[in-house]
Amino acid sequence: MSADAVALLDKIRSKKARVCVVGLGYVGVPLAVASAQAGFGVMGVDVEKEKVSMINNGVCYVEDAYSERHLPELVRAGSISATENLSEGASSANIVIVCVPTPLDAEGEPDLSFLKSVARNLSKNLSGFKLVIVESTSFPGTTTDIFQPLLERSGKKPDRDFALVYSPERIDYGNAKFGVRNIPKVVGGINDESTRLGAEFYKSILDAPVVTVGSPSVAEATKMLENIFRYVNIALVNELAVLHETLGVDFVEAINAAATKPFGFMPHYPGPGVGGHCIPKDPFYLVYKAKQAGFPLRLVSASKAVNKMMPVHTIERLALALKAVNKSLPNTTVVVWGLAYKGEVKDTRRSPSLELLKLLKQSRAKIRVFDPYVPCVTVGGKEYESNSSEIESVRDADALIIATAHNAFRSFDLSKIRSLMRSNPILFDTRNLRTRSESEEVGFTYLATGRP
Ligand SMILES: NC(=O)c1ccc[n+]([C@@H]2O[C@H](COP(=O)([O-])OP(=O)(O)OC[C@H]3O[C@@H](n4cnc5c(N)ncnc54)[C@H](O)[C@@H]3O)[C@@H](O)[C@H]2O)c1
Repeated sequence: MSADAVALLDKIRSKKARVCVVGLGYVGVPLAVASAQAGFGVMGVDVEKEKVSMINNGVCYVEDAYSERHLPELVRAGSISATENLSEGASSANIVIVCVPTPLDAEGEPDLSFLKSVARNLSKNLSGFKLVIVESTSFPGTTTDIFQPLLERSGKKPDRDFALVYSPERIDYGNAKFGVRNIPKVVGGINDESTRLGAEFYKSILDAPVVTVGSPSVAEATKMLENIFRYVNIALVNELAVLHETLGVDFVEAINAAATKPFGFMPHYPGPGVGGHCIPKDPFYLVYKAKQAGFPLRLVSASKAVNKMMPVHTIERLALALKAVNKSLPNTTVVVWGLAYKGEVKDTRRSPSLELLKLLKQSRAKIRVFDPYVPCVTVGGKEYESNSSEIESVRDADALIIATAHNAFRSFDLSKIRSLMRSNPILFDTRNLRTRSESEEVGFTYLATGRP
């Protein structure tokens, strides 16, 4: 190791290293908090003035229980501060962690503009020897072929001026059991020195194993694999769910039975689509890279077709059930419970519920929504305000769709809800939270994804 790298290793071990987190979002805030809690001085950088001001006032705006609990005291103690100015944050830091967005552009292709802009600006602020860590999700080759050349633009060189690592973020938004500190971390550096420094840093802030891999590209490929695994497996159960609805077989019961196999099977569950910030987006980073390499990813394309079909399938099935009781979607009141993309969170990014609302509107249904966590959403220029309660939302409605697995929806009084709705009401449980017998017992026509 170079003398500079050894000095940085010592600073990490003694917690004297200063950390700069670039991008204070769902990923950056918990990481800043974990670093400060471990004893490092942290400065966060964000281009959004409001976020910077909230951090400096000790206000946690990300839905993360760990950050909500610790951020205020760490800001008060002077361990975390924030700035809009990258130079201010990065120049005095020994470790810079990049957590900026990597969205898809209008064509559905990777938009690396945020990452590139940070790399360009960082290259002007590489005074002293720094460890630069990229956490933003991207395809293999991003760190070495795109980020590193931009970092070197102002004449800075690896070994002499910086160490560079890719470490994918695995945080599972809303997961009460696994947070930033207890999820194992994968680290791949551009050289041994970088990997060692990166691993030492994460070991010092986490209570979880740190796994080193041979290069940033392997670490990037790891992230792609993890999220494509989810996307493809969700598509698999979605497709099989639709088949078994037709076959008259309870596929959810089959998944639960298969899950008793102690090896070689991991249950995934069908639903009204795939939502959230990562799973519907990340696979298309590798799709792009694969296309460039002349190797189209057929499984991801097929999965996209299946997953995108699920909201359409849901509404088509609802329309058929309405027809069976002499009703039709136009002028029928349909209530959608759940706007968030998954249970117990308020995040509506790419939520399947938004697609359901779009399709219901196209079908000229009268729509009401309720979500205990989400006050309102805007879809296609129309604002949907959440009713004040489950009860208020269903009065005189014809159909109720459970679109999100919020815990409250597992235990509501079915007979009370049924009594407030019109004749021949339909309960469409896309998340399989309630049973056929309890629903039919109180007079609902029961539909559930994956169940006949
Ligand atoms: N949200 C998750 O659960 C999750 C999980 C794993 C990985 N990721 C990945 O982590 C990265 C960040 O995701 P996120 O959810 O935290 O995004 P986010 O949108 O919540 O936060 C990103 C932040 O970066 C800021 N930003 C944009 N450009 C900037 C710049 N030039 N300088 C400083 N700040 C800038 C934005 O204002 C925003 O506050 C993405 O690549 C994402 O795919 C996210």
